Amino acid sequence: MKIISILLLHVMLLKRMVHTKCRATKYPFSEVTRFKISDEQVPWTVCVPEYDPPEYNSKVLMNKPWADPPLEDVSFKPKWNELDGKINRKSHTGTYRILNERPLNPQGRTGIKGRGVLGKWGPNHAADPILTRWKMEQDKKVLNTTTNLPILQFCAIQRKDCKQWALPGGMVDPGEKVSETLQREFLEEALNSLDASKEQAEADSKMVRDFFKQGVEVYKGYVDDPRNTDNAWMETVAYNFHDEDGHHVGKFDLKAGDDAQSVQWMDVDKNIDLYASHSNFIKSVADRLKSHW
Ligand SMILES: *[C@@H]1O[C@H](CO)[C@@H](O)[C@H](O)[C@H]1NC(C)=O
Repeated sequence: MKIISILLLHVMLLKRMVHTKCRATKYPFSEVTRFKISDEQVPWTVCVPEYDPPEYNSKVLMNKPWADPPLEDVSFKPKWNELDGKINRKSHTGTYRILNERPLNPQGRTGIKGRGVLGKWGPNHAADPILTRWKMEQDKKVLNTTTNLPILQFCAIQRKDCKQWALPGGMVDPGEKVSETLQREFLEEALNSLDASKEQAEADSKMVRDFFKQGVEVYKGYVDDPRNTDNAWMETVAYNFHDEDGHHVGKFDLKAGDDAQSVQWMDVDKNIDLYASHSNFIKSVADRLKSHW
């Protein structure tokens, strides 16, 4: 099974604090060193006369259909803070400022200008889907013996390189709640189930499409991502897609893929080792569904 080839792992901090991940000295996939600033100097409202960050725009972005053109391109007329055709240039954080025709990071200075490796100037929108089902044994919900609460399972992917578990997030177009890629994975799952008839496979495909139309918002906002710059940054919405009776996407046994990542249904528990903010997202789902945590 091919699992989410364009995976973007979001290193996030949910806490409302100054961004830190995007202020590590070296910018990812580059030799560019960020201009050093203190925590106090992060907000744009604080005057930092000596602030002179380097500019970095990755060559990778040249002529890519998913990326904006360079700002100098005369044909490029972005509508900041608006839905700009097929591109959502609105921020979940409110109206961002434009200075010298460039969007300004709503969380403040990052020590680097340009858009780095991010495709869009301004906000870059991702979604983190939290797919859940109940852990079942002989048609009964399995309870944790300590808390006596039913155990929830969520869809997790593991990167081969760093072995860390994460949510199967990805970049989204306006109006999408899950990436096309993730949805396609489940559609393939539906079509490939060997014991299913053609009719069953078609019904399952429709079920998958419908399942991803619902979803409850768990978090919406800025992401403290190492790729963020003064002029481009990541934002996400985390949605919970819960399969209460396990007859929808919960019926698919996710098997380890042979490509970049493996994927599985993982028991929800406070001890699971995930990126900090992903744990926070899952905890709020556990609270909402009154499951074991
Ligand atoms: C029950 O929950 C506790 C506390 O989180 C955990 O240490 C333990 O492994 C869980 N037991 C089972 C059977 O899931």
